[in-house]
Amino acid sequence: MDSQLEVTALNDKVVRILQVTDTHLFADTANTLLGINTHESYHAVLDAILEQNQPIDLIVATGDLVQDQSPQAYQHFVHGINLISAPCVWLPGNHDYQPAMVKSLKVKGISCEKEILIGNEWQILLLDSQLQDVPHGELSEQQLEWMKSCLDKQPQRTTIIMLHHHPLPSGCTWLDQHSLRNSHILADYLKDYPQVKAMLCGHIHQEMDENWHGIRLLATPSTCVQFKPHCTNFALDTSTPGWRYLELSIDENGNRQINTQVHRLETRKFSPDLNSDGY
Ligand SMILES: [Fe+2]
Repeated sequence: MDSQLEVTALNDKVVRILQVTDTHLFADTANTLLGINTHESYHAVLDAILEQNQPIDLIVATGDLVQDQSPQAYQHFVHGINLISAPCVWLPGNHDYQPAMVKSLKVKGISCEKEILIGNEWQILLLDSQLQDVPHGELSEQQLEWMKSCLDKQPQRTTIIMLHHHPLPSGCTWLDQHSLRNSHILADYLKDYPQVKAMLCGHIHQEMDENWHGIRLLATPSTCVQFKPHCTNFALDTSTPGWRYLELSIDENGNRQINTQVHRLETRKFSPDLNSDGY
């Protein structure tokens, strides 16, 4: 894992990143997840993003891109994301199947690189927290050491670390069983790297903006089903599919700033089956 992707920002003052996450697509575009047609909600989100017509330097897809592990579902992801003219990078979630994922996402416009340098000031590192066949996550020693080597190489670059699983409690007891199990080891690694200012994850299908050991921890709504915040047992939420923008900039005092907003669909067309009792 020695290679990297270098992205030239459209504007040298602000770097703009779009995050889409947990698209949970199927080979059969008529299929639904907990009452929502995930292909349709993905395309409704893409249409809304195109409508906003924001400049975008990089798209990050933070896992659970498909629900059925099929190459066709990954192809549906590609077909959609390529409607937006910006390079896309990705990392795996617990529902992904990496052999099909790696193969299907090796196409024009999508990069498999995990170390991304944007402009002269910023670095993004994409980590693989997937464990085979279980919903919780863990970072291998190899992943942690790779992250450390990237941080050692670029001490002057402000860094955002991205991974699928949330490293701190979300407030949903049922989801927190499926968090990043060795987050204490990650925290231990990161304490020597003050250039890591933020972390971005998916997995919890809800918005979060918290402080984790001095690092801003952001989570983002899924493009399909939303999980209800702050509950003990599995419950779906009626909030609509969403996405996130990040704006990375340097203020007049030379301080690096990360501004971010979550957007959601205005339509109520994608309502989940609120009687579902599992996922
Ligand atoms: Fe998910």
